[in-house]
Amino acid sequence: MAKSKYNRVLLKLSGEALAGDDKFGINNETIFQIADDVAQAHETGVQMGIVIGGGNIFRGVAASTEGMDRASSDYMGMLATCINALAMQDALEKRGLQTRVQSAIEMAEIAEPYIRRKAIRHLEKGRIVIFSAGTGNPYFTTDTAAALRAMEINADVIMKATKVDGIYDKDPATNDDAVKFDSINYIDVLNKGLQVMDSTAISLCMDNKLPIITFNLKTPGNVCRVITGENIGTTVS
Ligand code: GTP
Repeated sequence: MAKSKYNRVLLKLSGEALAGDDKFGINNETIFQIADDVAQAHETGVQMGIVIGGGNIFRGVAASTEGMDRASSDYMGMLATCINALAMQDALEKRGLQTRVQSAIEMAEIAEPYIRRKAIRHLEKGRIVIFSAGTGNPYFTTDTAAALRAMEINADVIMKATKVDGIYDKDPATNDDAVKFDSINYIDVLNKGLQVMDSTAISLCMDNKLPIITFNLKTPGNVCRVITGENIGTTVS
């Protein structure tokens, strides 16, 4: 069986990825497909943390532009990530994987509180740790939470799952001549305003030399391909 190129990774999934072709909510077939991919990747021996967004349930930023208080809407978004984390935990455990959900906002009846050293211990024991509730603070995105957690658990790389094959010079959905980068540096991502992760997350990765690999989650088997070192997607380093 193929071996992992990395010791430890942080997989970032958007909330929308769980909705599949539905507009919102959690699509069963989609979440089971993602769980299959994660299970396959886990067999390579990699230690894996997961951060999931909440946009399939509640979009904090969108609500705040429509007049809702930004902090309140961000907190609602954080709660949405907890719903997704529990759904992902269930899907992964149905495949026989051991998982733990940790939450940045205390809700002890539902999830463990986020404790860095405990998370690392779980990872060392081969458990997949799903980090929920973002960073626990409003004004930070789940991309930033992913960058922060990746650094805290000493991940080798952030794997940012998207709907496209990697980073393009322009939107490939509307431009036939869009060119995909195999690799790109952080500064170019920031300067060109490329939609990889928000600038806080990119800066955090840049300052701490944490590579980001963006890849298409929709192709089954891609999580494992990235983990075994296949050159798909775009690497930001
Ligand atoms: P080790 O003892 O280090 O192997 O880890 P463990 O996670 O198996 O032990 P622990 O006794 O901490 O946890 C047993 C179960 O209780 C696991 O499913 C944990 O996710 C869960 N658990 C632990 N702490 C909490 C908590 O504060 N809240 C909730 N809801 N569950 C918890």
